[in-house]
Amino acid sequence: MICTVTLNPAFDYVVFADKFLLGEINRSYREELHAGGKGINVSAVLKGLGVETCASGFVGGCTGEMFCKVLTETGIGHDFIQVQGMTRINVKVRSDQETDLNGTGIMPTLADLSKLAHKLRGLPQNSWVVMAGSVPRSLPADAYALLISQTGRDDLCYIADTSGEPLRAVLKEKPWLVKPNREELSDLYGIRIFDKVEAYRYAERLLEDGAQNAVVSLGGEGAVFVSASGQKLSVPAFSGKVVDTVGAGDALLAAFLAAKSEGKSDSDALKFGVAAGCATAFCTGLASKEEICALLSR
Ligand SMILES: Nc1ncnc2c1ncn2[C@@H]1O[C@H](COP(=O)(O)OP(=O)(O)OP(=O)(O)O)[C@@H](O)[C@H]1O
Ligand SMILES: [Mg+2]
Repeated sequence: MICTVTLNPAFDYVVFADKFLLGEINRSYREELHAGGKGINVSAVLKGLGVETCASGFVGGCTGEMFCKVLTETGIGHDFIQVQGMTRINVKVRSDQETDLNGTGIMPTLADLSKLAHKLRGLPQNSWVVMAGSVPRSLPADAYALLISQTGRDDLCYIADTSGEPLRAVLKEKPWLVKPNREELSDLYGIRIFDKVEAYRYAERLLEDGAQNAVVSLGGEGAVFVSASGQKLSVPAFSGKVVDTVGAGDALLAAFLAAKSEGKSDSDALKFGVAAGCATAFCTGLASKEEICALLSR
């Protein structure tokens, strides 16, 4: 079982309009509603790959109830905690220009975080827990680290895809895997990563600072992997026409974990992950299993 944790998920309400004028009544010709958030994306790709997954975290209010309903309809298993406030709806206007208005959303408390830890304590033996995305302002920056220590189960395998202080803090809890992208790794160490050599160097720094393994995604240049045993791997990106890179990193992580959970080698898992990231960048939304496999077999 791969459980994902999203602390402040969101609906993305995408409205398409011929024109969009500020201060006017505008009309859309099409609307879409997507249940979003980094952990949700990971669960969605895992589900597409046929891996058992459960999305967890916090939701609030009637939008939170609707959020869970949408996940049910999509076939994604979920077990969220209801907290004060309302799950946010991010409005994305698609017209001649792109305008986004992202909400603040729920404000989970430390007591809510303890409830989440309690829930994780009930996971089946040897489950994996993916903590993805930023930490809401209402929680301390080390919320993911706290979640691991409060859960207090050594058999669980923790994976963190976050940045800044939440990433720095979670390293102390020795997560099995971290997956920063180039910018997130650069920001963490106050440097600039230009090439693969630098990516390896700072991925190793992540290991010195506590991570057991690290994947660093490099956008159009693929990804590198370093492990505690000193193994270093890199996979270049597949060629194709980029349509939309949103969620590419989440797809990479999901596919890497799907492969590892099936006992594949690090090298095969990294290749599968990069294929999933690329397939996602080459389509709208998240890539399906068919799209990923088509790219791999090319
Ligand atoms: N421009 C691109 N061309 C080809 N492949 C890409 C491109 N951008 C991303 N990818 C693929 O997606 C993977 C993850 O990309 P990236 O490093 O941008 O992740 P990220 O910034 O974490 O993304 P996310 O928006 O999901 O957080 C890359 O390793 C690569 O396989
Ligand atoms: Mg990312």
